[in-house]
Amino acid sequence: MQDRHILLIICGGIAAYKSLELIRCLRKDGAEVKAVLTAAGEKFVTPLSVSALTGNPINNALLDHEAEADFGHIELARWAELIVVAPATADFLSIMAQGQAPDLASAVLLAATCPVMCAPAMNVHMWQKPATQRNLAALVSDGVEMIGPEEGEMACGDFGPGRMCEPDVILQAICARSGVPATGLTAIVTAGPTRESIDPVRYLTNRSSGKQGIAIAAALAARGIRTKLILGPTEIVPPAHLQTISVTSAAEMHTAVHEALPADLFVACAAVADWRLAVPHEHKMKKRGREETFTLELHRNPDILASVAKLKGNRPRLVVGFAAETENLIGNARHKLASKACDWIVANDVGAASGTFGGAHNTVTILTDQKTEEWPTMTKQELARTLAGRIQSTLTDGRDQDQLDG
Ligand code: PMT
Repeated sequence: MQDRHILLIICGGIAAYKSLELIRCLRKDGAEVKAVLTAAGEKFVTPLSVSALTGNPINNALLDHEAEADFGHIELARWAELIVVAPATADFLSIMAQGQAPDLASAVLLAATCPVMCAPAMNVHMWQKPATQRNLAALVSDGVEMIGPEEGEMACGDFGPGRMCEPDVILQAICARSGVPATGLTAIVTAGPTRESIDPVRYLTNRSSGKQGIAIAAALAARGIRTKLILGPTEIVPPAHLQTISVTSAAEMHTAVHEALPADLFVACAAVADWRLAVPHEHKMKKRGREETFTLELHRNPDILASVAKLKGNRPRLVVGFAAETENLIGNARHKLASKACDWIVANDVGAASGTFGGAHNTVTILTDQKTEEWPTMTKQELARTLAGRIQSTLTDGRDQDQLDG
């Protein structure tokens, strides 16, 4: 992001506080940031905080004598290489969709020729309202990229989609969009759970949310690595710029991964169900006529990671597996490293107390043939970025997996 010109538009939503952290992340990555606060945005974060963090004077008035003497809104639109609206409220999305320009923020957008990204933030019912969805569809067809929103508990107590993505997630989407040079490297990442049908109403699955794998795919893409995400059924919407292939069962994931080959890198982060019913029941299984207990016969699913790592001709140069354990973390992970023939194993504790499944953080140990390296607890995005950095230097500098700490 070094020296990239990012213009951040902050609208009036409770999530505006996250935009301050976003500015900090962008500047840490080397970007130059200018910000425009809408009138409502100013009610949530102060111009002083924003200008202190951006290191630039704040822009907020369209009819400012001094700024408009130099056609301030046109200047800002020309300066920006990328405009990010975060939080993007329902009201502001509507103004954008209609091409109105009642204030500086919307006037800059109308005058801009650079790419525009929006991180929507609003109540779930506002998000689901047909009018909002119409506005979104119009903006997306105009080329505006949406980052999120995420699903979760809202400040108002409602639950559902509408929460603004975390700054880390927005940063990754920005990096990917703002033209990081392509490395020529390619990757396949699996993420999320798989779902194995029992009958038309029941299935077997697990607690994976897909957060960790999606973050890894986004972090690789942000480094200019052409990444295909093979994603099991999850509530989380992956960033729009990621090439995502959605699957349901382990068998579908297995096929999708092999169809996506060849690649330089394979990261198996999905929590693939180990077993399935050989033939799911065609109709809903009835309780009538069954005893208190009954047996389902399960068959082993294909091991996707091992099937890729053991390929003869088409094997990716680097194969990274995960180990999800509730006991004997290192011993079990080391066994998987050998039995699945992968180059690295990322071992994590998924016991109930760890909060790893579905949580925001992860604590991992990386294992290779020669080394065991403990990493501190990080957010899943930080972990993804650190892992992506290691992967890229291994693939490009020719450093092999035994030099993890280089
Ligand atoms: O999705 P989140 O909520 O963010 O949680 C993240 C996570 C806990 C799911 C993730 O960090 C993780 O640990 N992923 C691997 C989960 C898993 O199934 O681990 P495992 O130890 O059972 O499998 C070992 C490896 O073999 C994994 O790389 C897995 O993807 C792969 N595997 C397993 C079975 C199978 N049939 N095919 C596979 O490819």
